[in-house]
Amino acid sequence: MDGAARFITFEGIDGSGKSTQIRRLSTRLESAGIPHVMTREPGGSPGAEEIRRLLVEGDPERWSAETEILLFTAARRDHLEKTIRPALATGRTVISDRFADSTRVYQGATRGDLRRTVDVLHAEMIGREPDLTFILDMDPRAALTRGLGRGNGEERFEEFGLDFQERLRAGFLDLAAEFPERCRVIDAGRDAEAIADDIARTVLEVLA
Ligand code: TMP
Repeated sequence: MDGAARFITFEGIDGSGKSTQIRRLSTRLESAGIPHVMTREPGGSPGAEEIRRLLVEGDPERWSAETEILLFTAARRDHLEKTIRPALATGRTVISDRFADSTRVYQGATRGDLRRTVDVLHAEMIGREPDLTFILDMDPRAALTRGLGRGNGEERFEEFGLDFQERLRAGFLDLAAEFPERCRVIDAGRDAEAIADDIARTVLEVLA
């Protein structure tokens, strides 16, 4: 790979430690003098943050999986136009907490077989894959305790329960097998520092 900016995503079940690891990676990139932006989905641009509230708050049964796919895709399109593309175009690496793989797994694989619908919309409206994706893999029971412990009113997906998180975990591992060139599965049940070391080593190799 050449030294250009890269699009890096973090994926995994709720409570798998993505935000912590993204912050740690950002600190390491800063020390290495690598320009980058941290962002997240749903959200990452003012319009997409407004859509986020509709998605992560309230009754779990508030939206069908089909409606969710449309809302997540609308938010992603705005995020891509307003944040991701401009950053990459000006040489900044983008680190995003979730992207299209979350829709493939949360909406496409766990609540009815909607993967084809997700893929059609993705091809039409987004058409971009990350250069590198970390899948933080861990025991759903431990992760769920962490996720629900936050108490920030954004637990709509955690409230689908343990079975749902088990299906998500399997879905993310299948996805890693489907896209082996860009996906790295990380054992996220370990010490945060050890995980951060693995991630930083891989990112610095890819950016070198
Ligand atoms: P977060 O807790 O990682 O910020 O994400 C908010 C929730 O939205 C999380 O439970 C995962 C879910 N989600 C989807 O269901 N589909 C998607 O496409 C994305 C980006 C997130």
